[in-house]
Amino acid sequence: MIDDIRLTGEAPLQKQLYQQLSERILKQRFPAGSRLPSSRQMALDLGISRNTVNAVYDQLKAEGFLTSSAGRGIFVHEDIKAAVKPAGPGLKQPIKNATSLPPLPAVPRNRLKAVEDASLPFQPGLPDLDAFPIRAWNRILHHQESRRALRGYDTIQGYQPLRSAIASYLRASRGVRCEEHQIIITNGAQQALSLIADVFLQPGDRVLCENPGYRGARNALSRHNNPLVPVPLRNQVLDVSALSELGPAKLFFCTPTHQYPMGGILDLSQRMALVRWAQQNNCWIIEDDYDSEFHFYNKPFAAIQGMFDSAPVLYVGSFSKTLMPSLRVGYLVVPEPVVEPLLWAKQINGGESPLMTQATIAEFIESGQFTRHLRRMRQLYRDKWQLFQKRLTEELGGLLQPVAESAGMHLVVEGDFDDVSVSQWLKTRGFGSTPLSAHFIGQQSRSGLVMGFASANERQIEECVVALKAGLANF
Ligand SMILES: Cc1ncc(COP(=O)(O)O)c(C=O)c1O
Repeated sequence: MIDDIRLTGEAPLQKQLYQQLSERILKQRFPAGSRLPSSRQMALDLGISRNTVNAVYDQLKAEGFLTSSAGRGIFVHEDIKAAVKPAGPGLKQPIKNATSLPPLPAVPRNRLKAVEDASLPFQPGLPDLDAFPIRAWNRILHHQESRRALRGYDTIQGYQPLRSAIASYLRASRGVRCEEHQIIITNGAQQALSLIADVFLQPGDRVLCENPGYRGARNALSRHNNPLVPVPLRNQVLDVSALSELGPAKLFFCTPTHQYPMGGILDLSQRMALVRWAQQNNCWIIEDDYDSEFHFYNKPFAAIQGMFDSAPVLYVGSFSKTLMPSLRVGYLVVPEPVVEPLLWAKQINGGESPLMTQATIAEFIESGQFTRHLRRMRQLYRDKWQLFQKRLTEELGGLLQPVAESAGMHLVVEGDFDDVSVSQWLKTRGFGSTPLSAHFIGQQSRSGLVMGFASANERQIEECVVALKAGLANF
């Protein structure tokens, strides 16, 4: 009966014996009711200790595989037969394949494939990870880690000192009108967008999105099958004159201070037109202020959230670019009556954000190190942006046109080539990028590459320009 049981030295003997016996019982090689050798006999036959066999028998008895009867021995449980070959309504046919699963969930259409090499230089959205002040950060982190108060649960809304620090920072640097009770800490901007979708959207509600635009937002805002209405761009910013023809919508996702990915900045009169349109059409604006900290020459335009009285704005921010993406911390600033529904959505959608990380960011901001870090990064990214633009123009001037706005962490280069193939090819050379055409809704599209220069050093900028030149000759 146990002739073919083989135990090796690769895993604990108890685990191996348990697996092999339970497998044989499930496959009915040891039929229900059949008798197993005594533990003494099994131990002798397999050359292992009797304690090991007893432990496995006890485990299998506890789990209902085996049963023992005093003085008679150990048997495979009778109930196993019914469990392995269930009968009853809808189950008259025996299950042919024990590993077959119930119906699988549908794979979402247009799903973004996971980026395996998401930390390659030039990957859009990635900051300079080497320039992060890791020592100063670790000192604060160690201090926060030792605080007992941070070991339990906190509020769903987020750690109060962090909300207070964000409110002061946004009032001073972005002109956002907010108090800490209007702020909700989220797990990145992505969670903020998906909470907004949960709270605001009913099936069939239309959502306006800049076209081209940020794919993370489109995915979150269309996940209840809500129709996405593309808003065209003019001069690299959303075309406010097109709004009157687009019909009603519940939400409008936009990036007014640095259009993603094209880089344009909505001017004051366009901002006023946008807010007026939203007020007249009962539409909420989602203002994604994802990288305003990195305007190189002028102070960035204040956020539209703070420019007008009672602007219908849900303001989204993130520490992914100002600190690092792996923190997964972002925030929402919303009018007071919207706070409660969003908190409920967050409670059932992941709950609290990691408390020690929040406390570390709060101290980093309060100690003044956040502002210093941003100042250094602004200078660093400006140098990289200048070098990358210069080298692109020198080497690839005829083939590519950099779409240059003096801001941010990425640059779009447009050209007449198969951008999906070139982007994939660049990846094989160790450089990240995303094809511009992938940022469009529907057919209408332009081709080019979105390139995140912030994560590349000087040498990589040089090498990437050379690689691009070679690549474009082939595609
Ligand atoms: C337009 C835009 N918004 C927001 C984000 C930040 O997303 P998250 O905070 O989820 O990392 C990014 C990141 O790349 C982005 O490109």
